[in-house]
Amino acid sequence: MKPNKINQQRVNTMLFEIIRTENYEDMSKIAAKRVIGKVQQKPDAVLGLATGSTPEGLYKEFIKDHKENGTSYEKVNTVNLDEYMGLDRNDKNSYFTFMREKLFNHIDIDLENTNVPNGMVSDMEAEAKRYEEHIKEIGGIDLQILGIGHNGHIGFNEPGTSFDSRTHVIELAESTREANSRYFHSIDEVPTHAITMGIQSIMDSKEIILLASGAGKAEAMKKLVYGEITEDFPASALRLHKKVTIIADKDALQLI
Ligand code: PGA
Repeated sequence: MKPNKINQQRVNTMLFEIIRTENYEDMSKIAAKRVIGKVQQKPDAVLGLATGSTPEGLYKEFIKDHKENGTSYEKVNTVNLDEYMGLDRNDKNSYFTFMREKLFNHIDIDLENTNVPNGMVSDMEAEAKRYEEHIKEIGGIDLQILGIGHNGHIGFNEPGTSFDSRTHVIELAESTREANSRYFHSIDEVPTHAITMGIQSIMDSKEIILLASGAGKAEAMKKLVYGEITEDFPASALRLHKKVTIIADKDALQLI
């Protein structure tokens, strides 16, 4: 086999397959290859998608591959992890808008098949239930993409969230609002609440790829791999999942 041009190192732990890459670009490329492979093998796959700066490079790779190689998303369904509460879906900071601008408007996906929770409805409980039921109706998530917060959140499941949780409304941690204030004029504009798929909803995915980049994520990655399994560190639930691949750059994995 031709050696992969991308410099990567595989680390096998009992728990996760870890792919250590040289940098962010390689992390994005390797992750894209896996996800695109899944779509080629199962053209009607259900993909769980994430927002934030970590998966942006991955989405760029999808678009590039779609244009150059014609991988089709016509039959793919997508389910996003979360949405801010109280932001109009057309707000530039809504995750609905993020997904359209960074991915959906540039590939052949049927927008009807894309799903982001609605942070504007008055009955949040009903919206959470609807979202869970819809995930079930489309057959469950084949492959979920995750980022990780500095405090170990996955989706917007902040520390203390029950591992049994399903889609629910959550109060954002102050550190999350601070981290995300970079997209807003000031921290006061960052919503205080969000609707997020729960830990159990994420754990129900058949396969998970967690991405991380940069030294700022190193402590969180160390806790994820070596720390205890506890609701105080939501990502640690992933240690109980059978098929999680971590694809992260060497800065994020410097303590592993
Ligand atoms: P980031 O966010 O990709 O912007 O670092 C990750 C997260 O908070 O889950």
